Parts: sequence; structure tokens; C-alpha cells
Amino acid sequence: MIPLSIPNISGNEWQYVKDCLDTGWISSVGSYVNLFEDKLAEFTGAKYAVAAMNGTAALHLSMQLAGVERGDLVIVPDITFIASCNAISYLGAEPLLIDVDKYTWQMDLYLLESFLEENTFLAGSTTDEGNEIIRSHINTSGRRIGAILPVHVLGNMVDMDRLSAICTKYHIPIVEDSTEALGSTHKGKHAGTFGIFGTSSFNGNKIISTGGGGMILTNDEHLAKKAKHLTTQAKTDPFEYDHDEIGYNYRLVNILAAVGVAQMEQLPGFLKRKKKLTNITDDLLKMKICGFKK
Ligand SMILES: Cc1ncc(COP(=O)(O)O)c(C=O)c1O
Repeated sequence: MIPLSIPNISGNEWQYVKDCLDTGWISSVGSYVNLFEDKLAEFTGAKYAVAAMNGTAALHLSMQLAGVERGDLVIVPDITFIASCNAISYLGAEPLLIDVDKYTWQMDLYLLESFLEENTFLAGSTTDEGNEIIRSHINTSGRRIGAILPVHVLGNMVDMDRLSAICTKYHIPIVEDSTEALGSTHKGKHAGTFGIFGTSSFNGNKIISTGGGGMILTNDEHLAKKAKHLTTQAKTDPFEYDHDEIGYNYRLVNILAAVGVAQMEQLPGFLKRKKKLTNITDDLLKMKICGFKK
């Protein structure tokens, strides 16, 4: 069996974790959490990065903040990990699966566009603040399309320029499941920086790992603040137990962020090695397909 990816702990992980243990900063606040967020933002070019306890939590919150509501449909490719669909279901929404392209394994954008053209109409609804939002609804059921969740599976990216144009036309927000694509780019722009939100996972089989962990990426300052607020139980006062809405305990702990900081220091090397291994695999497969024998 060839593992998808295994953790590579060969940098400053021990030193930074020891620092957390020595200083007692092991829990949900601490300098490594901030540093890890800064490093992710700097590397991807996202304006803001908010740490979360895992990629699933990052997806859940991102979709909530993108406005996905109970009863909505969220369009997702039919090759993904169950977490994408679980996060949609946490909000009382339902995944609507679109087939993937056989060459890229990404959502087939021809299918998506013809689906939207044939099956949807544009309708307006009003927010609590009285602003009108125009969104696509499905013709037959009238259900709203809450978001599109492209999944950059195994680090390959969907054509984000084309997807963005489709989503603008149909007024559908994009939340990127970029959990498997740290370091992937489309025309020089990083995965996770095209949609309202992008998401990262630092599970054991990801490009970098903190054991478990996630990140929400966004260019919107207000949404970034809101994401941070909701990951920390929606607490409004650092000392008093005042909470202004239903929040979550979704913060990444400092001790895991410390591992993340050490992993980020090694990320360029990891990516170089991955590319090298991909080229070797490609060459070997080509030889096999062409019946090459030594
Ligand atoms: C495509 C995809 N989405 C979501 C997730 C969820 O991430 P996590 O395991 O960090 O919750 C993963 C990875 O596990 C994934 O591969």
C-alpha cells in the first residue's frame, strides 16, 4: 500500500512544543496560534487567516458565514471526502452533487453551467438588515442554492476563473474546500483565496500536519473577525462571561499551532519533494501504459 501522505516531523516541532509546555501556554490562546495564522496568510496571500480545530470545523463556520441556511442546497463535486458533505448537513442544508471531469477529477464546469442554466431562476430575498440578496433557486422545488463548494481534491484545482464567472452570473457564493491543496495555485493565485472563504486542513494525511487542525482564509476583515468570534464561543468580553450569539469551541490550541509553525517553516521543501515524486510517478505510469520494458 502507498500511503496518501505521512507526517514529516523533522524541523522545530519538538522545540516549539517544549516551549509551550515550559511556559504553560498550551491551550486556546498563545503566540503560536497568532504566528501560525500569520504564516498561513503570508504564504497563501489571503488577507486573513483564522485557526480552527480541524478542516471540518473550518468548512462548517465558513459556510455559515457565507450565508448558507437550513433548507439550502450546496453544490459540491461527487469526488470528495465525507467531511465536505457533513459540514453542509450541520447547517441543515443539503449537498447537491455534480459529476467530476474524468481528467482533472474536479467539478465538471460544463455540467455545472448547463445544470444552472436549465434548472434555476434568480430570486431576491431580504436579510435581517433589509438588504436584498439575489440568489439562484432551483426551478422545480424553489430551494435556494446557498453556496458552491469546489473541492481541490488531491491538490488539483478546478478552473477558478471560470467557476468565479459562473458564480457571479448566478449569484452564488463560493466557499473553497482547499483542505487538500495547501501550496496549489491557479494562474499564480493560491487555492483558498478565490472564494469568500477558503479552508485548510492539517490532518495527518495533509501537506503539513498538526495532528489535527484547520484554517479559515478570507480577504474580508469583517468576516475574519466574525469567524474568530464564533470559533471562541462568541465571547464578547475577555473577563466576563458575556456571549452575544451561539458560538463554537472551534479554536486550535497553542500546542498544535506550535507544531504548525514548525511545519510551515518546512512547507517549501515538502512541496518541492512532492513535485519531484509526482514527476517520478508520472514517468513510471507512462512507461507502464506504453508497455515499456527494460
Ligand atoms: C476534501 C476534504 N474535505 C474536508 C476534510 C476535513 O478536514 P479535517 O480532517 O481536518 O476535519 C478533509 C480531510 O480530512 C478532506 O480531504
